Amino acid sequence: MKLLLASRNAHKAQELAELLPGFSFVLWPPEAPEIPESGAFFQDNALQKATFARDWWAAHGTEAVEGVLADDSGLCVDALWGGPGVLSARFAPDLADYADKNRRLLSLMPPEAPRTARFVCVLALAPSQGQPLTVGGAVEGSLAFEPRGTQGFGYDPIFVPEGFTQTFGELASRVKHTLSHRGRAARALAERLR
Ligand code: IMP
Repeated sequence: MKLLLASRNAHKAQELAELLPGFSFVLWPPEAPEIPESGAFFQDNALQKATFARDWWAAHGTEAVEGVLADDSGLCVDALWGGPGVLSARFAPDLADYADKNRRLLSLMPPEAPRTARFVCVLALAPSQGQPLTVGGAVEGSLAFEPRGTQGFGYDPIFVPEGFTQTFGELASRVKHTLSHRGRAARALAERLR
């Protein structure tokens, strides 16, 4: 199944390609507009991205695809009232790289607060014809006290999945895939399509 991927995030694209080996992906082209994500919930944003990209591709696309896949995801920290959550990609816009963003996020943690957190991912698939569908996945865990590891991307170096001592930044990608929010959502999508 050939899908347009409604994202400019190269890390997400790589993970989704690894997680959904039966699919081939056309990447969102550099000349295409920014994809809006103005919803309050992951599901709203995933649907908004998928349908926006499908409509834009219908008018401007350069090759035929069977549908559009969008991923909306983020890190929800209990002690930060679920933040940065749907705003994960827009957290600390004054800082350019995630090493600094991760330190900023850790500095916001009240010292005695529980460090529980979860990654959440909603995937929306908008077929070229017909209604979109969504699937979700989450992984429970806790925040490390300092960033550790260089694997993965984004908040991976500060997230320790439940049952492990290493962060996603320290775990191999194949281990992250078995546990992660995106891995779970991707397997749910493959199951729904079967
Ligand atoms: P959005 O879905 O475009 O709003 O962006 C999601 C943001 O959440 C990413 O830019 C990352 O900051 C963060 N994020 C989502 N999934 C992961 C992950 O698997 N590892 C680390 N950070 C993630």
